[in-house]
Amino acid sequence: MSEERIEAENEIKSEDNDVLIECDGLVKIFKTTEIEVMALQGLDMVIKKGEFLTVIGKSGSGKSTLMNIIGGLEKPSAGRIIVDGRNLSDYTEKEMVEYRGKTVGFVWQNSNRNLYPYLTALENVEAAMCFSGRKKSEKKERAMELLSLTGIDHKKDSIPAQMSGGEQQRVAIAVALANDPKLLLADEPTGAVDSKTSDMLQDLFRKLNRMLGITIIIVTHDMKLADKTDRVIMISDGKISTEKIMKEKYRQEFDKLSDDDLNFNIHEEYSVMDKAHRVQLSEDILKEAGIDGNKVRITVEDGKVVITH
Ligand SMILES: Nc1ncnc2c1ncn2[C@@H]1O[C@H](COP(=O)(O)OP(=O)(O)OP(=O)(O)O)[C@@H](O)[C@H]1O
Ligand SMILES: [Mg+2]
Repeated sequence: MSEERIEAENEIKSEDNDVLIECDGLVKIFKTTEIEVMALQGLDMVIKKGEFLTVIGKSGSGKSTLMNIIGGLEKPSAGRIIVDGRNLSDYTEKEMVEYRGKTVGFVWQNSNRNLYPYLTALENVEAAMCFSGRKKSEKKERAMELLSLTGIDHKKDSIPAQMSGGEQQRVAIAVALANDPKLLLADEPTGAVDSKTSDMLQDLFRKLNRMLGITIIIVTHDMKLADKTDRVIMISDGKISTEKIMKEKYRQEFDKLSDDDLNFNIHEEYSVMDKAHRVQLSEDILKEAGIDGNKVRITVEDGKVVITH
């Protein structure tokens, strides 16, 4: 890419104030003594401020790797990631610690990773407030507010072992919000709870997104939960292959929709074209079209792109 073009692109980006995250050609290679795994293979993505989206994909497709890079826990091997106008690779070690603590809140599948087992719910939230700049008394007040926001204030004096999995996750979400982050990252937060509880947690994420305007990215295996978010990104082999975007009319009316409504197709599905104009075709489409070789013909007929073998 020429220098002029890079400059021009940067100018456009800096003006685009509603973008929170931009990933350009993200590559992540894990090297062990025997093998090299390419967990992300040139992933491009833009996430706007206030979006509520899920990431889905098969096991090993790179979902957690992407979340860890966005959260500043892993560095990409190549490509760049810009969050809130700053390239994460420009951060010093100290700034990175602050970024992880202040800009991002994490919720993990395993509550041992979210909560200190020997602290009460209230103490867990207070302990997480190290970047909030609040005084001790203010911390307690805010921690109570967050526990009531996530619907678990009645368990404020319980330790995790005295709570159900769903209750622990409500505390974990309050912990993740402790420093008023711009971004909430949740890697399979409902993976260890039953489907009714996971439904309730998903509704809680939606409420927080709508009430606080916080950007939320959730990794899930559960398509039913994914369909309750505004955008569903499907990763295959370390790249985004398809996206489903909730139709505007449903987005506005979402809170009035019943579970039956959700069975309708309330999203529109798109294939994603990367910057080099590549589109990935799913196994299902190839099978249906009877394409099994590695060469296809591409033509344009009546303004439509046609792929034949
Ligand atoms: N620290 C690591 N060292 C070596 N390989 C890794 C490491 N982390 C992830 N990988 C590999 O990178 C690939 C992507 O892993 P990742 O954890 O991102 O997948 P995932 O989509 O989150 O899968 P799951 O649904 O099972 O959680 C996998 O092949 C995995 O084995
Ligand atoms: Mg994972």
